[in-house]
Amino acid sequence: MSLYQATASAPVNIACIKYWGKRDTKLILPTNSSLSVTLDQDHLRSTTTSRADPSFSEDKLWLNGKLDEIKPGGRLWTCISEMKRMRKEVEDQKPNEPKLSAMHVHICSHNNFPTAAGLASSASGFAALVSSLAALYKLPASPSTLSLIARQGSGSACRSLFGGFVAWEMGSSPDGSDSLAVEVAPRDHWPEIHALICVVSDDKKGTSSTSGMQRTVETSALLQHRIKHVVPERMRAISAAIKEKNFDAFARITMQDSNQFHAVALDTDPPIFYMNDVSRAIIALVTEYNRVSVEAGGKLKAAYTYDAGPNAVIYTPQENVKEIVDMVVKYFPQAQPFKDPFGLFKGAGVQGG
Ligand code: PMV
Repeated sequence: MSLYQATASAPVNIACIKYWGKRDTKLILPTNSSLSVTLDQDHLRSTTTSRADPSFSEDKLWLNGKLDEIKPGGRLWTCISEMKRMRKEVEDQKPNEPKLSAMHVHICSHNNFPTAAGLASSASGFAALVSSLAALYKLPASPSTLSLIARQGSGSACRSLFGGFVAWEMGSSPDGSDSLAVEVAPRDHWPEIHALICVVSDDKKGTSSTSGMQRTVETSALLQHRIKHVVPERMRAISAAIKEKNFDAFARITMQDSNQFHAVALDTDPPIFYMNDVSRAIIALVTEYNRVSVEAGGKLKAAYTYDAGPNAVIYTPQENVKEIVDMVVKYFPQAQPFKDPFGLFKGAGVQGG
């Protein structure tokens, strides 16, 4: 008897131009395009195994060992149904293929870092889910095509289908068929850039991105300004900076966009606070580090960015990594630099990758 099973893994991505706001909540269509870097180290990944078997009586999914609910019409259900629909198209064209689309699936997913701690676990999770089903179903689909489906699980997940520097183009079609991820540059185009993850807290975040975005779209005037007058030019400028390997421009835009995303959260009614005092102290440290460099006639050396949580990600060229880790450890004496994934969240820490 054949075993129909496949495993895939996908890494976290961290946005430089933030996605915040949906124009269609069911299809997950964003109010602006966004751009991220997919981290290529092993510590922040989701790994997912999918199996189809005629004996299974329902679709089931375990996340980190716990059975999760697949609500009909919900995001998991939508992704699984869409993948089965694509498999069915293959089976219709090749009648000798096993009828996997008619079987239920069991899916087992594992994150090697805390779930929902502002470290984009839903991004890697849905990207790994879609990739493992694509492998199970042997679909001849490109990463951009798979990104259309991962997007319907969690918007930012569409960007984790590619490595390197990735844009999610918002698209304009009401059915979402042009709201997909595209590669801006592969990882090996600019391997010098590293991401340091400063884990300020691994608690579950207070306001989920879904409810936060909805409130922002409904109440923030600043968001309307951002999506019309700010993001389109930033997308163009940061793509050019990446292509030209211009770290100074890349860093400036990344920090400006993180600041504006958190300003938009604050402009929401009631306001949303994702950063805490430690997050703001890290901003002050990076700002001072850059100021010293610029005043000495140099350029920006590091860029901070924060998602929907207090943890900092610092982008920097390889040559500055050691200096920054030493600096963080000096000013935050409780911080522990670490290498192993399981020491990762014992306290404030700095992760290089
Ligand atoms: O995909 P979601 O619903 O987890 O939203 C992610 C939102 C941010 O992480 C704050 C920004 C981004 O572009 O990843």
